[in-house]
Amino acid sequence: MIHSKRFILYSFLCSLHLQFVICSSNTHHVDSFLVSCGEAKPVELEDGRVFESDLGNTHVNISPISHTIVSNSDMGVPKILSSARVFTSSSIYTFNTKKIGRHWLRLHFYPVKNTKFDLNSAVFSVEANGITLIHEFSFFKGNYSFPLFKEYLIQVTGSNSGKLVLGLLPWDNSIAFINGIEILSVPQKQFSSKVIPIPLASAQELPTHVGFETIYRLNMGGPNLSPMNDSLWRKWESDKSFLINPAAARNVSINPNRIRYHDGVSTEIAPNLVYATAQEMADAKVNNQRFNVSWLFQVEQGFGYFIRFHFCDIVGSKLHDLVFNVYINNQSAIESFDVSRQAKGLSSPYFIDFFTNLSIGSDKILVQIGPSHLEGYLPTALLNGLEIMKMSNPSDSLDGKLATYLDSNDIKKSKNMHMMIVIFSCLGGGILLFLLLLISFVFLLCFRHKKKKLKKKDSVTWSPLPTYVGNSGTKFSSNTFGSTTATHSLSQIISFSEVREATKNFDKNLLLGSGGFGKVYKGVLENGLVVAVKRGNPRSQQGLIEFKTEIEMLSKLRHRHLVSLIGYCEELNEMILVYEFMAGGPLRRHLYGSNLPPLTWKQRVEICVGAAKGLHYLHTGVAETIIHRDVKTTNILLDENLDAKVADFGLSKFGPSLNQTHVSTAVKGSFGYLDPEYFRRQQLTEKSDVYSFGVVMLEVLCARPAINPTLPRDQVNIAEWGMNWQKKGQLEKIMDQNLMGSVNLESLRKFGETAQKCLSENGNERPSMGDVLWNLEYALQLQEASNGSGGDDDSMTGISDIPDRIPNVDRVEEIDIETVSDLESNDTIRD
Ligand SMILES: *[C@@H]1O[C@H](CO)[C@@H](O)[C@H](O)[C@H]1NC(C)=O
Ligand SMILES: *[C@@H]1O[C@H](CO)[C@@H](O)[C@H](O)[C@H]1NC(C)=O
Ligand SMILES: *[C@@H]1O[C@H](CO)[C@@H](O)[C@H](O)[C@H]1NC(C)=O
Ligand SMILES: *[C@@H]1O[C@H](CO)[C@@H](O)[C@H](O)[C@H]1NC(C)=O
Ligand SMILES: *[C@@H]1O[C@H](CO)[C@@H](O)[C@H](O)[C@H]1NC(C)=O
Ligand SMILES: *[C@@H]1O[C@H](CO)[C@@H](O)[C@H](O)[C@H]1NC(C)=O
Repeated sequence: MIHSKRFILYSFLCSLHLQFVICSSNTHHVDSFLVSCGEAKPVELEDGRVFESDLGNTHVNISPISHTIVSNSDMGVPKILSSARVFTSSSIYTFNTKKIGRHWLRLHFYPVKNTKFDLNSAVFSVEANGITLIHEFSFFKGNYSFPLFKEYLIQVTGSNSGKLVLGLLPWDNSIAFINGIEILSVPQKQFSSKVIPIPLASAQELPTHVGFETIYRLNMGGPNLSPMNDSLWRKWESDKSFLINPAAARNVSINPNRIRYHDGVSTEIAPNLVYATAQEMADAKVNNQRFNVSWLFQVEQGFGYFIRFHFCDIVGSKLHDLVFNVYINNQSAIESFDVSRQAKGLSSPYFIDFFTNLSIGSDKILVQIGPSHLEGYLPTALLNGLEIMKMSNPSDSLDGKLATYLDSNDIKKSKNMHMMIVIFSCLGGGILLFLLLLISFVFLLCFRHKKKKLKKKDSVTWSPLPTYVGNSGTKFSSNTFGSTTATHSLSQIISFSEVREATKNFDKNLLLGSGGFGKVYKGVLENGLVVAVKRGNPRSQQGLIEFKTEIEMLSKLRHRHLVSLIGYCEELNEMILVYEFMAGGPLRRHLYGSNLPPLTWKQRVEICVGAAKGLHYLHTGVAETIIHRDVKTTNILLDENLDAKVADFGLSKFGPSLNQTHVSTAVKGSFGYLDPEYFRRQQLTEKSDVYSFGVVMLEVLCARPAINPTLPRDQVNIAEWGMNWQKKGQLEKIMDQNLMGSVNLESLRKFGETAQKCLSENGNERPSMGDVLWNLEYALQLQEASNGSGGDDDSMTGISDIPDRIPNVDRVEEIDIETVSDLESNDTIRD
């Protein structure tokens, strides 16, 4: 599905925005923040470092929704773990870094004993600059009885305005907490070299947008090293427990002072304590000894891993004595490696970086060193240090429990890719909805039990619902539903071979976008229909749920303003959806972040009208109300005539039945668009879509993201910011500069009032989509009337010049924080 970053954060959260401008205490590093969370006074650690309080600093602003606790019972724990700050709703720490580039981010978590909160059972997620670090973690779930320490490498870019934004997101009704935060800028040379892929291929640059998590950092043949022994405060672990056959290795060491660093390598790469010890082949120097020393590491499957080897010849008596082979996962990494040649001397450090993609089904990394096949060298091999770091996946996650999605943000990142779109097949005729439902059900089963090829079988849970064209007493013209007469879907089963043909065997050049859910290709069916083909990734459990929902929803719906499914394919464990191609792409791209020409005010209002029609149909046009749950500018797609259609029903839910007022459900949606009432009460009504639509309206007006954390506090959240100006009656001051001089003030006023009503705190006060639609059509008429009457000479109809316009920074990435999985929808397929 095309959702990606789901946020539970909503606007008010931004009020908890702890701004840190703590001065660097370390002369070596441009940025060095040491923060003790929830502690009133600075804390001096056992290692001499002083952690500042996150309170009491003039630059720190803490809103009342946070609570501080301090432990007094755990005398044994390190000082940094003796206090924690607890968050009852999603919250952000913002660090203004001085340096652009990679930063170490180290996080300390420990469930401090206290009387107010049970931190052991807290479930929360953590995110930094758009990378999901931890997803739905809980000490209790993990049976952790010890502190959790995590280390990451996070890129701070100019487009984050040099900020590191750390989000803490409680799951559902839970709480989040954190004990300590360390941030340290990484020296320029630390990760500047190229990495060599395994299987061997030409070296590549490390992608800068990727986040890293340190999984292992080992000091071969030596003791554990504490942060005190490392100029970058890293921890190094002894390798003993990872040796497959400890008898095959023996530790060697020299006096650390004998280590001689050469250019390119310094103590910042690794301290001399690491290079001064190593494991080498046991019983070396015996003729013809032939075996490998092997280390085995448990890692999470499906991720890419960065592997850094540290070598230093501390055993050879002369140059070029020590030549051996290095393997990763049974594949050659370095053949006949001459350490002293590479390091330009004995006792001289050298490091080399590799990269390997761990395929599905493999959750281990095997590292081996063994003698070279060449004659005339010492029959030994050695390794001094090893680092293994996990790299964030295409969904920007470092925590695999997170289901991944194809998302607009991924697409935005994948440069000029269009987003796929969808539309309405004109394939009329009644289709076998029932058959479709059966097949989808079977299809799902097939995915769950890959090997078992199940045949169609009866599905009780998927009985089709009667569909009728609604007439819900709304105020607008009857032709709104004009196109809905062909109510039942014509979605058809499309063979894999046809899909393959349509996409020229999934030709890279036809790729429109990609992400965790899978890839989207443009294609042409046999009958000439241009389509968007979404090829799912069968790994993604969440993707599967949303896939199912999308088929279920779209096969019930046909409307001129809803994207439609043409067909799907279930062969060979494939999970493929075929939509009609939407040439215009997502609405957001027409508003900001691309070079597309700016839309006129009339076009913008027309697009809103179209999308409102689609949503109105969802809410009232079918027997059972359908709540979209993820209304946002990336889910409104445009065709070649800029006609809007609502897309992506992967999160949709049926609304309350007659005797209910709401549906209780885990909160889902997208950050910045999420209805605060829904968030608070977890009760879903169609008014949540109305709220999100209000956010969309403001985005259309101001041409900036719903959330932009790089702006000043009062501007971060568009709903809050827009409503402040709307209440002052000066919405024109924040509108898109491109609209200046061409907007009818009355039309704008109507538009602003409507958005304001949509954004009412209380769902009951928000209008229905039908009312929104009526108001938008009215705003459109006001604009058309002024265009027609040559409004140029009427100074009241045009806004010509607004000198004190608020500058608006766009083209900045939203921060994205992924959240919560929907337990209910998991349950529905777990049968
Ligand atoms: C956690 O520990 C408890 C008791 O020590 C045990 O009953 C439970 O099965 C453990 N859970 C997991 C997930 O290991
Ligand atoms: C090195 O090996 C010796 C002898 O096997 C052992 O006693 C010692 O603990 C080892 N040192 C380290 C740091 O592993
Ligand atoms: C690490 O640093 C501590 C404190 O300076 C010191 O006591 C310890 O000996 C060092 N470890 C090694 C292996 O040198
Ligand atoms: C490496 O090879 C060994 C022996 O052939 C095998 O048992 C092991 O699974 C392989 N490991 C990997 C990671 O491929
Ligand atoms: C060492 O491991 C590699 C890769 O698993 C293997 O190809 C090689 O034969 C092994 N060498 C010896 C001497 O066992
Ligand atoms: C590893 O996987 C990523 C994402 O799937 C891909 O972009 C990259 O090219 C792969 N690298 C290698 C060496 O296969």
